[in-house]
Amino acid sequence: MLTGKRILLIIGGGIAAYKALELIRLLRRDGAAVTPVLTKAGAEFVTPLSVAALAGAKVHTDLFDLTGEAEMGHIQLSRVADLLVVAPATADLMAKMAQGRADDLASTLLLATDTPVMVAPAMNVRMWDHPATRRNIAVLQGDGVRFVGPDAGEMACGEYGPGRLAEPDAILAAIRAALAGGPLAGKHILVTSGPTHEPIDPVRYIANRSSGAQGTAIAAALRDLGARVTFVTGPAAVPPPQGVQVVRVETAREMMEAVDAALPADAAVMAAAVADWRVANESSSKIKKVAGAALPSLTFAENPDILKTVARSPDRRPRLVVGFAAETDDVLTHAQAKLLRKGCDWIVANDVSPATGIMGGAENAVTLITAAGAEDWPRLPKDEVARRLAQRIAEALA
Ligand code: C5P
Repeated sequence: MLTGKRILLIIGGGIAAYKALELIRLLRRDGAAVTPVLTKAGAEFVTPLSVAALAGAKVHTDLFDLTGEAEMGHIQLSRVADLLVVAPATADLMAKMAQGRADDLASTLLLATDTPVMVAPAMNVRMWDHPATRRNIAVLQGDGVRFVGPDAGEMACGEYGPGRLAEPDAILAAIRAALAGGPLAGKHILVTSGPTHEPIDPVRYIANRSSGAQGTAIAAALRDLGARVTFVTGPAAVPPPQGVQVVRVETAREMMEAVDAALPADAAVMAAAVADWRVANESSSKIKKVAGAALPSLTFAENPDILKTVARSPDRRPRLVVGFAAETDDVLTHAQAKLLRKGCDWIVANDVSPATGIMGGAENAVTLITAAGAEDWPRLPKDEVARRLAQRIAEALA
């Protein structure tokens, strides 16, 4: 619940602005007070009247509103909130934020504030993918801005891909998470999860049996302790948690890139089951079955070791790097060797031999290996393993 929380909601221009109306309704139903700010472009899509009616509050629209200045300066406006939320955040508004420009009320408020900021981007997929937007996102993430969405899907412009504004209930969950406080408040934690898919040709791929359940539970538990979580996930069987920044990838190389883009972080928890090898002779067209012809043969190339790269980074190593070791035999010996080889601080080791039912199951029995030694945890639901691990991470980062 957001009872007593004050949200300054900046509504940018874009067709998705209508969803901001629903967001206002959800926020107020959750107990929050909403101070709405409508950009000039935003006012082309939703009217100040509907925004004010739903918010039950005055809408701020113009930097040089003298009555507003007399009642409450624009600087003050941004400081009385617990969180500034920009939804929808256009590419232009994000560019302004990244550059620290202040040429209208919304950008001025965003520059004048020392309150945490969350943005929910919405734009055309090409604009989202453009290197300029990528750069701006990296700058904003570095400044500690939280992101929610965008979702991938069909867009109002008729194209398909990432760029749709996150749904209002997902934005609400992210706002709740951001305001939850807790021992990890102000910390950025990167979590990798799920399997990777390594293509053989456009329709076939090599994968593994990871469901992503443990990584998802860890991301949720870290969020619940107040962390800002970037969740880089391969194609998992379980949906990603709400209230975290989700980055979807398929291959190990894409995961490496996404991890690189998400740094710096205070801690990294690498729970993904990354394929060690990719198909080196990936075919750009579907490999055909030809009667009498030789069977196709695959050759492999080594994938980047993401954990090792992060743990051994000379300048961007998170303070705490946690790796996983899924083994089917000699769990402890292999895991201890892995800790040294990869250069990480902790290894969460588990036995994934089929008889344990752990891979894809609801429970996990892990051994936490640190410099201090090995601790066997009892067999627990994956959510509980995640909560214990998150708690330990909070203690380590305190
Ligand atoms: O070497 P192995 O795959 O057993 O190590 C497991 C740990 O290393 C996990 O934390 C996994 O996320 C990480 N890993 C990685 N990149 C790879 C292979 C594994 O980050 N290419």
